[in-house]
Amino acid sequence: MKNKTSEILAMLDQQQLLRYVPELTQAEQETLVRQIDALDLSVLDVDSSETSRGNMEPLYALTLDEIRANSSRYREIGLQAIRNNEVGAVLLAGGQGSRLGFDHPKGMFNIGVDRELYIFECLMNNLKKVAKEADSTIPLFIMTSVENDAETRDFMEAHDYFGYSKDNVWFFVQEQLPTVDLSGKLMLAAKGRVSTAPNGNGGWYASLAKNGMLKVIRDSRIKWLNVFAVDNVLQQMADPCFIGAVIESGMVSGSKVVAKAAPEEQVGVMCLEDGKPSIVEYYEMTDEMRQQREPDGTLSYNYGVILNYLFRVDKLNKTLHVKLPLHRAKKKIPYLNEKGVYVRPEAPNAYKFETLALDMIKLQENCLAFEVEREKEFAPVKNKTGVDSVETARALLRKNGIAI
Ligand code: UTP
Repeated sequence: MKNKTSEILAMLDQQQLLRYVPELTQAEQETLVRQIDALDLSVLDVDSSETSRGNMEPLYALTLDEIRANSSRYREIGLQAIRNNEVGAVLLAGGQGSRLGFDHPKGMFNIGVDRELYIFECLMNNLKKVAKEADSTIPLFIMTSVENDAETRDFMEAHDYFGYSKDNVWFFVQEQLPTVDLSGKLMLAAKGRVSTAPNGNGGWYASLAKNGMLKVIRDSRIKWLNVFAVDNVLQQMADPCFIGAVIESGMVSGSKVVAKAAPEEQVGVMCLEDGKPSIVEYYEMTDEMRQQREPDGTLSYNYGVILNYLFRVDKLNKTLHVKLPLHRAKKKIPYLNEKGVYVRPEAPNAYKFETLALDMIKLQENCLAFEVEREKEFAPVKNKTGVDSVETARALLRKNGIAI
């Protein structure tokens, strides 16, 4: 065992990682040391207390009525940008989907009832529609994690990319961060392997860069990247109307938003923070903010984000060096216990650390909040049952005339 590594672990009071070293072969020991040496141990210093926020003000949003009145013009601008090959799409599919409890990449979940209809298929169908309308192609970058990369690629390959042209699909793998138990101890996933988890969806542009994808973006002259979550089965990506509205506004980013169902709805809301676009989480809002209304009666903090953003590539390049804050999330994380037994916890037992895509919005000079109809564009599959679940998503698919 390399002395330096054990010295550092002793200094940090994290020697439990070496518990099974006597049982490991020389090669396994070396692998473990290499992994420990490469761990980002800054997670041990993540401050769990709330980060202080700046001065919040409401942010103007382009409303459904305004969008309807100008939709054909926005659409044409967006379609033209797609035809000029200026738009790329980024699918965030590196999450673990722990709430859904499905043992495969979430995109492989069959949301169909009377027929097979995979989440990936819903997304590819929507993207194909736009490509057809523009009579062009949209490069699609799919972010995976070390855990689900091979399975995701194999699945897409086996399903022939659901009819999308394979030449326009690129995969890239996001980074991992170590996990800690509730008392702050790093955990083992196996006798010779430390437990790690994907580092959140905020690192997508840095991961694209690390994986060499900026060359593809440069060579294809992509100016805009539309980034979105895998788990919204009504996700409208590379939406020409959204793209056109952002381009016409002259702003450097855009965010699709939905009007809140009620002042108390638990959703992150777009706002201005110290004059910059930002997202305030529901638990960070005061009661006064939740109830505050504009002269026309709408809530001042009314527009919830749905993880569908548009970014200008030149501006993203300028923020590549910025380290986004790490947030800790309490999750059910399987681990090897002190008796050498692999435990699959029933309740959240540990923290993983994540950067969030919404924190990238704060790095932009401005952001167009673009309202969409919740029932037409937002059907998240987060839980097995109840709110934002398989059932609610199925009901919304049916409501939108999609056979399932
Ligand atoms: P969620 O925040 O819902 O996380 O992801 P999750 O890991 O999928 O699910 P839970 O919380 O464990 O149940 C929102 C989007 O961000 C992607 C997910 O794949 C989803 O599209 N994501 C999340 C990543 O790509 N990487 C991550 O590290 C985390």
